[in-house]
Amino acid sequence: VAVETLVYEGKAKRLYSTDSDQVLLMEYKNSLTAFNALKKGEFEGKGQINCEISTLLFRELKKNHVSSHWLETVPPNKMRVLRTKIIPLEVVVRNRIAGSLAKKFKLHDGDLLQKPLVEFYFKDDALADPFVSNEQIECFGWATREEIRQLQTMALQINQILIQVFHQCRLNLVDFKVEFGRLTSGEIVLSDEISPDSMRVWDAATGERYDKDRFRLDLGDVKTGYNEILQRLKLALGGLQ
Ligand code: TMP
Ligand code: ASP
Repeated sequence: VAVETLVYEGKAKRLYSTDSDQVLLMEYKNSLTAFNALKKGEFEGKGQINCEISTLLFRELKKNHVSSHWLETVPPNKMRVLRTKIIPLEVVVRNRIAGSLAKKFKLHDGDLLQKPLVEFYFKDDALADPFVSNEQIECFGWATREEIRQLQTMALQINQILIQVFHQCRLNLVDFKVEFGRLTSGEIVLSDEISPDSMRVWDAATGERYDKDRFRLDLGDVKTGYNEILQRLKLALGGLQ
């Protein structure tokens, strides 16, 4: 396999092959999109900020025994990751009402749920990421019943760890999306990224939004919000090394 050949380009990241066929190099781009890529934007330094935030969170999850594809970060905006076969699901965990849930059920933005909610969406922009039931996932052959249970358990475990981390930053974790992949052994690990592109985090005192909703809803300077999250995480968790 040729070293550092582009193998995949997504909306916010690129993947390159490396000298090991088990390892890919993941590059965070400066672009961002919303509404299934209908709205497009970018800002200087975005790739680096998201790479650093993802690094801090993957590292914290690893400390707490959550296995992910993350191996090491190659500053400023790349990480070496294990090659996985992505399960085509967006696994969303919600602690509070927001976004599509508020809209779909006319519920009040920011209200706490009785317990964290895990939902599965089919990862397909052209179909606008439709909600998919557990039974559909099984019947389509995307995951077995046991694997679905494992995804739910891992997602809730990740949620508990992230809630604690953001609590230390005086931030409320409203919701987030994660993706999982299978290693060649079949083991399921957390994959993709965990960044302000794929979560909602609000200031615990003021409710100010620091995540991609700033971009989606034109709420203010997006870079300032992303940087606020990064700086607070660095303070709470220590720097990148
Ligand atoms: P939603 O309220 O729009 O369904 O989003 C729930 C969470 O998932 C929110 O933190 C944003 C994140 N998300 C993604 O990362 N990718 C997506 O394509 C969508 C729709 C949401
Ligand atoms: N991630 C999706 C997109 O790029 C949707 C979103 O985050 O709003 O369009």
